[in-house]
Amino acid sequence: SVTVRRRFRRHFSLAGVQRNVTDHRVLLLGPPGAGKGTQGDRLADRYDLDVITTGDALRNNKQMDISDLGLEYDTPGEYMDAGALVPDAVVNEIVVAALADADGFVLDGYPRNLDQAEYLSDQTALDHVVLLDVPESVLVERLTGRRVCDDCGATYHVDFDPPAEDGVCDDCGGEIVQREDDTEETVRDRLQVYADETEPVVEHYRETGALTAVSGEGSPDEVFDRLVELIDG
Ligand code: AP5
Repeated sequence: SVTVRRRFRRHFSLAGVQRNVTDHRVLLLGPPGAGKGTQGDRLADRYDLDVITTGDALRNNKQMDISDLGLEYDTPGEYMDAGALVPDAVVNEIVVAALADADGFVLDGYPRNLDQAEYLSDQTALDHVVLLDVPESVLVERLTGRRVCDDCGATYHVDFDPPAEDGVCDDCGGEIVQREDDTEETVRDRLQVYADETEPVVEHYRETGALTAVSGEGSPDEVFDRLVELIDG
């Protein structure tokens, strides 16, 4: 079975209880390294939302046996380490389970292709569809310098956001490591997959008029201020 990590979760939905009108349903789109994880956590904290992130859910289930699908690889981890997309059947299941008991949410890392976007539109409506716009040269620098806590998942960067003590997480004292798919070669593959599979999703939301593009350049605080301004209207 699939587990989804929920950060900043402070309330639970009950059958029959109506959605709070202040709950936001935010979709964050953008290439690898655009800052979706960084900003998704901040938005969740600010607006009391669940973060639904397929990347984290898959990382927590890298060894899951999916051989029954009869596809190229037998585990999600093999797709991820190749920089490829994990099959839709696996990812859709994660998202539908997470949406079932989320009120407001930030969706990060999904949908990644047009089939996933179509599936999502049958599951829920969205209030904000936001593209974090960052040039490719900046993305490679951010991703190859990213480090994450092996225990709690907190994100750092060797130059832009280092921990106080080398290799040790500020939040939980856990070990800080490099993600296996953050090597330069795999980053290039992920950016190519984004261009081929996910840019059509961005175009789809642009054509429907739902999309707002926000610059993801500048400091995390500057980017966050832009997002808050957008959401608060
Ligand atoms: P996933 O984990 O979703 O990775 P991603 O989309 O490639 O996004 P990242 O986590 O790399 O980037 P981010 O935008 O969150 O950046 P962050 O905030 O960390 O997916 C991984 C894999 O899982 C995929 O390749 C695929 O195999 C599979 N997968 C996931 N979802 C799937 C789906 N729906 N379908 C099929 N397969 C799926 O920031 C990056 C770095 O920059 C950090 O070090 C951070 O500190 C730094 N930083 C952030 N903002 C700033 C700033 N403003 N200035 C300076 N540095 C900054």
